[in-house]
Amino acid sequence: MQYRTMPNSTDRISSLGFGCMRFPTLPDGKIDEPAALEMMHYAFKHGVNYFDTAWPYHDRASEPLLGRFLSEVNRKKVLVATKMPCWLIKSKEDMHKYLKEQLQRLQTDYIDYYLLHALGKASWKNMKELGVWEFLLEAKASGKIRYLGFSFHDDYPTFKKIANAYDWDFCQIMLNYLDTHYQAGINGYKLAVAKGMGVIAMEPLRGGKLISPLPQSIDKLWKKGNYQPLERALSWIWNLSGCTVLLSGMSNMEQLKENLTFADICKAESLSDKELKLYAKVRREYLKRIPIRCSECRYCLPCPSKVGIPYIFGVYNEAIMFDNKLRLQEEYKAFIPDENKADKCTNCSACLAKCPQHIEIPTELKKIAEFFA
Ligand SMILES: NC(=O)c1ccc[n+]([C@@H]2O[C@H](COP(=O)([O-])OP(=O)(O)OC[C@H]3O[C@@H](n4cnc5c(N)ncnc54)[C@H](OP(=O)(O)O)[C@@H]3O)[C@@H](O)[C@H]2O)c1
Repeated sequence: MQYRTMPNSTDRISSLGFGCMRFPTLPDGKIDEPAALEMMHYAFKHGVNYFDTAWPYHDRASEPLLGRFLSEVNRKKVLVATKMPCWLIKSKEDMHKYLKEQLQRLQTDYIDYYLLHALGKASWKNMKELGVWEFLLEAKASGKIRYLGFSFHDDYPTFKKIANAYDWDFCQIMLNYLDTHYQAGINGYKLAVAKGMGVIAMEPLRGGKLISPLPQSIDKLWKKGNYQPLERALSWIWNLSGCTVLLSGMSNMEQLKENLTFADICKAESLSDKELKLYAKVRREYLKRIPIRCSECRYCLPCPSKVGIPYIFGVYNEAIMFDNKLRLQEEYKAFIPDENKADKCTNCSACLAKCPQHIEIPTELKKIAEFFA
């Protein structure tokens, strides 16, 4: 295992972090606890010391399971990251209440890396108005939290605003070779590094979509260079010297063992110009596959029939881009409520004049409704 540090922290942090959002599960959807515990112990034994969880993961069962793991090992040797569920916070008292409960669930007196979960424009405004920074400083001063950060899922201008607002120790952003200009992206990474913040990379494999199945044209590009897609995706992140931890959600022991192997060998600033050019080529190939040029500006909303136009386009685009209809069909069913699905379009065409990309929205929605039917 290789270790890295953050500018504001003295911890030696494993470059592979354990993402506790994708534990192995049983057919009923609950965590397969013996299998998950076995994986955590194996990871710890092989040098992983950073474990990332959050209030809602696995229907709120992730923090308590990590707590059980902590009770079975030397707590001082583990770095625990968890997050304030910002969407549940209505007052400063709530901040105290959730932190207290999280400490209990995790069976610990302190949290090493505490994040405001999934900040975006609206939640940031709310948290700021409720005085979250004062709360965080108090919690840090009392020893309940060691380092302060936030995780993020909005656009770069919003990221910049939040990053510049306070002296954060670190941030957690979506980072992978495909999404260099999505959400905080590579500009967010550079800004965080310039500000002396640690960077935790999440979704390094885009939830697994960068691994399998691979569209033929992408597979061909990697094969030509004699590369493995998994190793390529992980090494792009570890190549970034300002990235402290690559967080991986691993769903079985085989994935953990594989990722541990790469964590031993992938080094910072080790990719050649030729290799970086191939990543750019693969990225361009993926982007070329996007069928609908929706920029998710949301100008088309609100739709009079409540169709979730940009979200639907996003799922459809991914289905085509990753050549993975089956998986995205599941996401379409699970994450787009029936009343907002594509088949609710009445062809009223109110959206047409509002779309700056001039997308034939009703025609596309009809096509998508049939595709996912
Ligand atoms: N703060 C936030 O808002 C936020 C949001 C997202 C994630 N996170 C954190 O970041 C962590 C990492 O994100 P992520 O879970 O999305 O990471 P990811 O690595 O992009 O996706 C994890 C998935 O990749 C696949 N995978 C992992 N290792 C593999 C291997 N060796 N071979 C083949 N497939 C492999 C598995 O998919 P299959 O199960 O399909 O095999 C696994 O479930 C999360 O677990 C969570 O702790 C935080």
